[in-house]
Amino acid sequence: MTEIVEKLYRTGNIDDSEIKSLVETDDKGVSNFIVKYADETRQKYYGKKVFLRGLIEISSYCKNDCFYCGIRRSNKNAERYRLSREEILSCCENGYELGFRTFVMQGGEDSYFTDDFMCSLISEIKSKYPDCAVTLSLGERSYESYRRMKEAGADRYLLRHETASDELYRKLHPKEMSLANRKQCLFSLRELGYQVGSGFMVGVPFQTTENIVEDLRFLQELQPHMIGIGPFVPHHETPFSDKKGGTLELTLRILGILRLMFPKALIPATTALGTVSSDGRELGLKTGCNVVMPNLSPVGVRKKYDLYDNKICTDEESAECVECLEKRIRSAGYEVSSERGDAI
Ligand code: SAM
Ligand code: FES
Repeated sequence: MTEIVEKLYRTGNIDDSEIKSLVETDDKGVSNFIVKYADETRQKYYGKKVFLRGLIEISSYCKNDCFYCGIRRSNKNAERYRLSREEILSCCENGYELGFRTFVMQGGEDSYFTDDFMCSLISEIKSKYPDCAVTLSLGERSYESYRRMKEAGADRYLLRHETASDELYRKLHPKEMSLANRKQCLFSLRELGYQVGSGFMVGVPFQTTENIVEDLRFLQELQPHMIGIGPFVPHHETPFSDKKGGTLELTLRILGILRLMFPKALIPATTALGTVSSDGRELGLKTGCNVVMPNLSPVGVRKKYDLYDNKICTDEESAECVECLEKRIRSAGYEVSSERGDAI
């Protein structure tokens, strides 16, 4: 099977059946081979650089009801909060001092954050920190909303497609949500000139290997600048509370395949990966990841952005998070970059 990995490394593509065999392999030698080539590929384009993104979790209110997510609207026990404009700006100030040159504002779909609110906030951040990128991750909004926020200065948008299969999408979301709309949002964001990030969860309930192949094919069609994947981790107050989570091994194997298919993509070693294994993020970095996203949210709200059980990094101050992640990056043999880290 190593010849399939070599073909993927050489050509950036393989057949569906070949992807399937790599995804399903339990041969450690093959997995190690994927890691080796993924690291070689990342080093060819990005050297040893790892880019930092400061994550500001602006709201735990959400109008959606995704079956896997701890802050879904039906979770009556979720503690809700939203950050004020001043609190968000103070996270940016703190982040800038800590060396961040990208701020990611992420939250549930919360109508409090109107276009007017967001545009004025984005303009202020961009005028205070012209050398920084502003990334948004606020879910599905209208074309007009995306257009206005881009015009206000937003640079990037993260919106995982979650799954490219209609059938699986319906098993993970309530009827009122649609994969077609989510995909449309992604193509609109691209058209508007955002650097776009997409991705999916690994090991989400009912996911098959064929679904993962579909995800990779969709990403090839979209050609996003960033690709975020992480293991599904169950949350005790959701319909999937008793389901199994995604594994470290499978997530790493798919990360390696992604690096080989998308040599220039920005790929984060996610918090969920660090949640399923204490050295998950280091292993991610060694398997082609080149981004980490330390948490800049005020410590008082961290536990309330409770997407899944046992989420890490909820007790530490931002400075501690940065220090811890920088140590992890170095221990894995990579360098912390102080650049904005745009896609090449
Ligand atoms: N509301 C925005 C959106 O829908 O894109 C951003 C916030 S949403 C919570 C961010 C991501 O968290 C989702 O795209 C999903 O993949 C991930 N997520 C949600 N629940 C999760 C879980 N139980 N395990 C792992 N990841 C999860
Ligand atoms: Fe909206 Fe999870 S259901 S962020």
